[in-house]
Amino acid sequence: MAEPRRIVVTAALPYANGKIHLGHLVEYLQVDFWTRFQKMRGHECLYICADDTHGTPIMVRARQEGRSPEDLIAQSLEEHQQDFHDFLIEFDHYGSTHSEENKTLVSEIFNTVKEKGHIRSKLIEQLYCEHDKMFLPDRFVKGTCPRCGSTEQYGDSCDKCSATYSPMELKDAQCSLCGTKPTIKSSEHLLFQLQHFQDFLKEWVPQHTQPEIARKMSEWLEQDLREWDISRDEPYFGFKIPGYDDKYFYVWVDAPVGYISSTWQWCQKKGKKLEDYWQHKKAEIFHCIGKDIVYFHALFWPALLSESRFKTPSAIWVHGMLTINGEKMSKSKGTFISARTYLNHLSPEHLRYYYACKLSSSIDDLDLNLEDFTQRVNSDLIGKITNLGSRGAQLLSKKMDGVLGTPSAEGLDLIRYAQKQSETIAAHYEARDFSKAINEIRAIADKANKYFDEKAPWKTLESHPQETKEIISTILNIFRILSIYLKPILPHYVSRVEKLFGESNYSWYHVAQTLENVRLNEYEHLSSRIDPVKVKAILEETKKT
Ligand code: 2FM
Ligand code: ZN
Repeated sequence: MAEPRRIVVTAALPYANGKIHLGHLVEYLQVDFWTRFQKMRGHECLYICADDTHGTPIMVRARQEGRSPEDLIAQSLEEHQQDFHDFLIEFDHYGSTHSEENKTLVSEIFNTVKEKGHIRSKLIEQLYCEHDKMFLPDRFVKGTCPRCGSTEQYGDSCDKCSATYSPMELKDAQCSLCGTKPTIKSSEHLLFQLQHFQDFLKEWVPQHTQPEIARKMSEWLEQDLREWDISRDEPYFGFKIPGYDDKYFYVWVDAPVGYISSTWQWCQKKGKKLEDYWQHKKAEIFHCIGKDIVYFHALFWPALLSESRFKTPSAIWVHGMLTINGEKMSKSKGTFISARTYLNHLSPEHLRYYYACKLSSSIDDLDLNLEDFTQRVNSDLIGKITNLGSRGAQLLSKKMDGVLGTPSAEGLDLIRYAQKQSETIAAHYEARDFSKAINEIRAIADKANKYFDEKAPWKTLESHPQETKEIISTILNIFRILSIYLKPILPHYVSRVEKLFGESNYSWYHVAQTLENVRLNEYEHLSSRIDPVKVKAILEETKKT
């Protein structure tokens, strides 16, 4: 085995003011598959995440609910962690951006870029609500589109004609919280000089993003980059900017720093050094994100990091968005499905399997077609894969002595074939082409089913007990190999397979063994078919809530 790698992988930090839904899970699950795979290969691989807790929406919501933002984010942290846990997502550390560690690091990075001359201040005019006593972010202003005249449009863009504009251009502007007509007020803002990093980014972006993203970004990078406003006025829920009494860091400054501070918390827990993960030349750092937040991760973040003591990421992995039955998730159609609603009706491993069947390293959207979902789980995971284990184990334990025998030469050929796919499947996992990995796994299962059906060992139990045992032992060995390949995706399922064979803690290299003369333990139920009634129930519950 090669020298173990040292890898930190992050998924985007979910906002503390929203529930986890099936769209989020496209990301959290693929990183879970990948990090579990790396661990099985013997690498050190940390899965790091945290709640993204700051900003105006969280402050406003807490105010509306008559409680403190701290109280709100504490509740959300608990709910998010429960949802992730129940979807079998295993973080090495799940932190919060509202932490001392994060505050320390944001200030450090800010001071460094400031000392290096990348911050300037400027008076900026903005809409202000005299009633709510706050500057209004674009999303908190409503009015009439200056271009097409549609009413009820946000302060930054029009839903109807897609025009983008400044909130000052919006006609009949209103504060979306209280309906008051905003005034214009100016205040001092701090601006990060992103344009200083134009040359650096022109080189960096294509080397660290997928080709589709690099192409898109090159359009931005051909134009002059603009300075970025990193400060917000009171009232704001966030961290104060050092050296200013009444200025806060914009949430998008401290959010990515949360990747580092959450790793730092993990280091403290484990007695490790942060430098070994965020500064060491051996360390690899990957950020998995949706295509809606590329701008922050591929421009601001590497620019900030390039001036800090920390490493810039080894790559940014961008994925597409989730559609359900070919359409955007929608509240009115009942397809805005929360993680919790799904879990109230179906097993997390069904969705994990289906997402794996559909995921690739491209930025294409992923469609959760509910009929296809039901069918794939029922016909492949249950019909093709699980049946090998359940039928094989029942035959061996109920009709024979329950001890694995030695496969025949023909059976060994089949087992060798399954074992030989190991590096191909590993390469697909490594490349985040999970759907290709599943295709390979399914192809092995198809061969095994064909062998099983042709040999029909249930018919020869009495007439040819020795051959029958050879066949069942072959099938069970292949089922074991398939399970090892599927372990990153189906961790609970496979923990029961480990028990069946009297083993534990499968690593990737367990594939190379062939089990003989081993007594099977009791077969525990592994997975059920999806009843379409339950899928309907998910949609109904979603509509109601
Ligand atoms: O878009 C979002 O949901 C953000 N909360 C993601 C933040 S990712 C990182 F920068 F922290
Ligand atoms: Zn108002």
